[in-house]
This record gives sequence, C-alpha cells and structure tokens, in this order.
Amino acid sequence: MGQDTWNTAVTSIAPNEIRLRGYRIDELMGRVDFGRALYLLLRGELPDERVGRLMTAMLVSSIDHGPGAPSAHAARCAARTGASLNACVASGVLSINRFHGGAIEDCARAIREVMDCADQQKGSLDDAADELLADYKARKVRIAGYGHRVHTADPRTARLFELAAEAGVSSREIEVCQALERGLERQLGKRLPINVDGAIGALLLGMGFEFEVMNGFFILARTAGLIAQAREETTRERKMRNIAPGAHRYDGPPARQL
Ligand SMILES: CC(C)(COP(=O)(O)OP(=O)(O)OC[C@H]1O[C@@H](n2cnc3c(N)ncnc32)[C@H](O)[C@@H]1OP(=O)(O)O)[C@@H](O)C(=O)NCCC(=O)NCCS
Repeated sequence: MGQDTWNTAVTSIAPNEIRLRGYRIDELMGRVDFGRALYLLLRGELPDERVGRLMTAMLVSSIDHGPGAPSAHAARCAARTGASLNACVASGVLSINRFHGGAIEDCARAIREVMDCADQQKGSLDDAADELLADYKARKVRIAGYGHRVHTADPRTARLFELAAEAGVSSREIEVCQALERGLERQLGKRLPINVDGAIGALLLGMGFEFEVMNGFFILARTAGLIAQAREETTRERKMRNIAPGAHRYDGPPARQL
C-alpha cells in the first residue's frame, strides 16, 4: 500500500543538502547567528541584523537565573536521583509554567486586549489598562509578566527595550506595558514592575509572532541553563542530598566586565 504524501514548509532534506526555509544550512552557518536563524525558522524570512540581535538578546536574557528558579531546582532534584541529562532537562522544562517562564504568552495576550480595548473605545491606553486590571482583580487573577521575587528593577527588561528601539520594533506594546505599570501602582498602592517574561511578550507581540510560540522562547533559552545546573549538581553534590533552593552560595568567578 502506498503512503499518503503530506507537505511541510520548514526544512527540506536531500542527499548532501539541507535547506532551512529555502536557505542552505551550510551557508547560514557562520553568517547568521542563532537568533536570526530562529526568526527564520518561526517566521519564514531572515530578519535584519538589528532584529536578529534583539532575538539573540531575548534568548541570552533568559539563559539562567540561578539554582533557586523552579525549573533549575526541578532539574537538580532529578539530577540528585542519578537521572540522565535528558531526564533532568525534561524535569526542568516541565516546571516552566504560568508563574515561571510561562507568562510571556499570557502577558502578550493582555497587552493585545488593552490595545484592542483602547482602539474600540477610542480611549487612552491608561483607561484601557485600568479596565483590564479591574477585571483581573474582580476575578482574583494576577497579571502575567508583572512582579518578581528578587528584582524591583529587572536589568534585563530595560536592556531589551533599548535593543528593541534600536531594531525599530513597534513601541505601542511597550507603551501598554508602561500603562499597565501605572495602573498596577494605582490599584496596589505600590510599584510592580514588568518582568523579563512580560518584556519578551511585549516585544514578540510587536514583532508579529504568534501567541502560541511565545513561551517557546523561554523554554529554548532556559534549556541551556538547565543543562548547566543539572551538570553541576551531578558532578559537585552528594547523591540524594536534600536541596534547600534558597540556601546556595555563589562561588564562581567574581564580578567582571566584558
Ligand atoms: C512572580 C511572582 C510569583 C512573584 O511573587 P512575589 O514577589 O512572591 O509576590 P507576592 O506573592 O509576595 O505578592 C506581593 C503582592 O503583590 C501582588 N502581586 C504580585 N504579583 C502580581 C501580579 N502579577 N498581578 C497582580 N498582583 C500581583 C500580590 O497579590 C501581593 O499582594 P498582597 O501583598 O496584597 O497579597 C508574582 O509577581 C506573579 O505571580 N507574577 C505573575 C506571573 C509572572 O509574571 N511570572 C514570571 C516571573 S519572571
């Protein structure tokens, strides 16, 4: 019985020739960095270099956040049981959810809702942000992409917004982030700044990415950190130790400059 054929537009494979969205992979290698290749993979076209730099910066921003982050803790818990690298990484990835790393998509959706509401009502972004926040409050839902356990002014978000301006990415989404920040301050009586998930959500929305792929940016970036965390646990620590996630002390290289 013959096999039904089906179509794919991502990568073509022929003997001695691999093409990503039509470009030979060996021509991309050494000329196009990972951020630009990722854009090509997900969007079908190569972005210019400044957008590529922003893509790479988003990945670098989320590469690791220490052993206390829930996904790193999960990867280490798996590693202490003697799990293989893929099992450790999978454990970590499965801990990336709504409140950790998985807030990108939800934040982007909230930003879209604020923009649509302002457009429909021909009102200000601040009024639309207040409306959304009042609805969230009534439903006892936290707004994704705001707040952080450790940081009050996350150094990653400011840098990402700076690179986005350099890349000419739409700035309206960032204006909505600021309107939401002001609205939260009015509602809570204290500042609750945007976090790195929220910033990435705003930028990916401004760049035209689909909501459904957005959390993949964090998963992809943090997988690198999970490998490092799991490997350190395996090579440096006692098997089956009890891990207190907050009790770690950093003893790596001292602060240094590029
Ligand atoms: C990240 C997060 C878990 C940090 O929590 P935290 O620092 O422990 O904050 P707390 O749980 O102590 O909350 C402090 C106060 O701010 C409020 N708050 C915190 N984040 C909030 C949010 N995103 N939306 C609305 N209110 C929020 C809490 O309700 C709480 O109010 P209360 O003191 O009246 O109870 C939390 O901010 C959150 O759930 N954010 C949304 C999910 C998210 O963006 N995750 C990605 C993080 S990189």
